[in-house]
Amino acid sequence: MTLLKVDALTVTFDVPQPGDWPWTKPRTLYAVSDMSFELAAGQTLGVVGESGSGKSTLARAVIGTVPARAGKVLWQGKDLLALSPRERRTHRKDVQMIFQDPLAALNPRMTVGEIIAEPLMTHFPNTPRSEGRDRVRALMDRVGLLPNLINRYPHEFSGGQCQRIGIARALILRPKLVICDEPVSALDVSVQAQVINLLRELQREMDLALIFIAHDLSVVNHISDRIMVMYLGRMMEQAAADTLIQSPHHPYSQALIASVPIPDPTIERTRHRQALQGELPSPLNPPSGCVFRTRCPIAGPDCATARPPQTLIGPGHQVTCIKAAPVAQTVA
Ligand SMILES: Nc1ncnc2c1ncn2[C@@H]1O[C@H](COP(=O)(O)OP(=O)(O)O)[C@@H](O)[C@H]1O
Ligand code: SF4
Ligand SMILES: [Mg+2]
Repeated sequence: MTLLKVDALTVTFDVPQPGDWPWTKPRTLYAVSDMSFELAAGQTLGVVGESGSGKSTLARAVIGTVPARAGKVLWQGKDLLALSPRERRTHRKDVQMIFQDPLAALNPRMTVGEIIAEPLMTHFPNTPRSEGRDRVRALMDRVGLLPNLINRYPHEFSGGQCQRIGIARALILRPKLVICDEPVSALDVSVQAQVINLLRELQREMDLALIFIAHDLSVVNHISDRIMVMYLGRMMEQAAADTLIQSPHHPYSQALIASVPIPDPTIERTRHRQALQGELPSPLNPPSGCVFRTRCPIAGPDCATARPPQTLIGPGHQVTCIKAAPVAQTVA
């Protein structure tokens, strides 16, 4: 069942320029442009791209905290903007988020128990206190926190433990989708694996869909069913995780993969290696034509003239590049 369908989503911000007069029209920054994907219940979509590629803005548009300039976010078949107040409350309950900086995301003046219980008390204020505490304790236990620490404050915990608190808080309402925005980027490598494994276990137990955002492909690789690669607000490639890792077609995906050592020697021997050169251009002044062309090792003159279309090159495998061969030619 399709839980979430994002259709040609575009999100912009008005950005005043330093030195502009107050009456000067602000410039329009396209943080997310023409983005489409689907997510089924219980599945994980990995979203990868350098910092500034629009990943968090995409997450905020799905949660509903930034409006779309164009396109649609369909939650269980219904346009997010067209939801009734009651459906909107259900959506807010069903979609939760986990953030990159676990300590900063937690209110320092609240105890761990209050933090985890807060969404429950907001959506179900009549929940008896004892029931709330029991649910919090059970969830603390499940995410690997000692329930008798329920009255402690966030600063008394390590980064990994704070992220476990964030996970418990996100799960107390038994959501259908959890958006994890770089949930392990701020953690030590050893702790990263523990948190990812915990998320995978919880996903299986609760049939959760996940959008797992990272700037590093190696982080999303093992948790994702599908992976989408973003660059300067646009989708460059999306495919089943194995397909994208083993035969990436977009030069940007190839560069991201080249920067990650893959432990499988067969893949390691055969994969194309192309290191990424240069800096991410300003999203206020993106290159004409293909936004990736200023860093693309195979760019040609045509790449500067028109935006490349999103081409289907295999089952569920889309690539935004003029050199991508459509599915019929691939099969022939
Ligand atoms: N509230 C905002 N106002 C103006 N620009 C923003 C705002 N939020 C994000 N941006 C810009 O949108 C682009 C994408 O940002 P973001 O979604 O945070 O990317 P990522 O999460 O991939 O690092 C960046 O250029 C960022 O500066
Ligand atoms: S359209 Fe051109 S610049 Fe863009 S990725 Fe393809 S070859 Fe490179
Ligand atoms: Mg971000």
